[in-house]
Amino acid sequence: MKRTTGALDWSRWLWAWLQLPKVTKADGGFSGMAGAWSATSGDAAFAKVGRLEQSLRRDMRPMKQRDFGVGCPQEGRLRECRVADLARSASSDVRKGQWLMAATRYQSAHLERPLRILELGTCLGSGGDYLLSGGAEGTHYLGLEGSEELAQFTEKRLARHQEEGKEVRVAPGPFADTLSDVVSGPSVFDTVFLDGCHEGDALRAQWEALQSVVAGGALVVVDDIRWSGDMHAAWLDLSEQPGVAAYDLFRMGILVVGQNNTAYRGVRRTGWSQRA
Ligand SMILES: C[S@@+](CC[C@H](N)C(=O)[O-])C[C@H]1O[C@@H](n2cnc3c(N)ncnc32)[C@H](O)[C@@H]1O
Repeated sequence: MKRTTGALDWSRWLWAWLQLPKVTKADGGFSGMAGAWSATSGDAAFAKVGRLEQSLRRDMRPMKQRDFGVGCPQEGRLRECRVADLARSASSDVRKGQWLMAATRYQSAHLERPLRILELGTCLGSGGDYLLSGGAEGTHYLGLEGSEELAQFTEKRLARHQEEGKEVRVAPGPFADTLSDVVSGPSVFDTVFLDGCHEGDALRAQWEALQSVVAGGALVVVDDIRWSGDMHAAWLDLSEQPGVAAYDLFRMGILVVGQNNTAYRGVRRTGWSQRA
């Protein structure tokens, strides 16, 4: 399926996005998240992750990435690049980061306890950094990352959250192995960030696999929902699952699972300024 590229593709997506019904203040779950989103912009922890992200965009150290994406052999394909390339092309930027931090901040306040966070695809740990920054003390984070070098980089980067009473673990290896371990284990998650494979069928399969370990009321953040028509079709399939409330942030989407209210059906979009 054709990848979204160039101004024309993006303006078509933008036009279609603007036609979606907008969330309203009456939607309790979303207003809570939107409130956390606004509060995050003046937050010192948020600014700290943003500064680190900027410095990684200038970091010319070499980095090895073992790619397990579509079309790669089972053992992955080794690519050599620079930290800066990955920071610019594959890491969550500040707009996405603001929503990631808002999601965990809202979720911790709403549940009144630390969170159990799962991220599929950590890359340089940017998404994990934002997610952990919003979680209350005692929050547990598990990242799954195919590339050994990136898993180590992420674990090192996120170590400072352990000093703040949070727990961080990054499991290296292809999702075919690590995700199977997660879904056959005892852990349940309150916040899940799906940011590994940018391919519709893989996204649907991850969603299916995770059903047994996603807690009722969990937030599932899906990245790059307009990466291609194929990714967007998969996002719509997930949004239409019974009991799911779906918020379209333009580049990312957030699903709230376990909502029994039929009024939640269908995708609604955020305000213009809140686009991820
Ligand atoms: C877009 S990047 C993740 C960015 C990160 N979540 C963030 O917010 O900054 C995708 C990551 O998923 C990993 N990945 C992709 N397919 C994978 C697979 N099948 N198994 C394991 N890791 C995979 C890649 O190595 C890459 O680091």
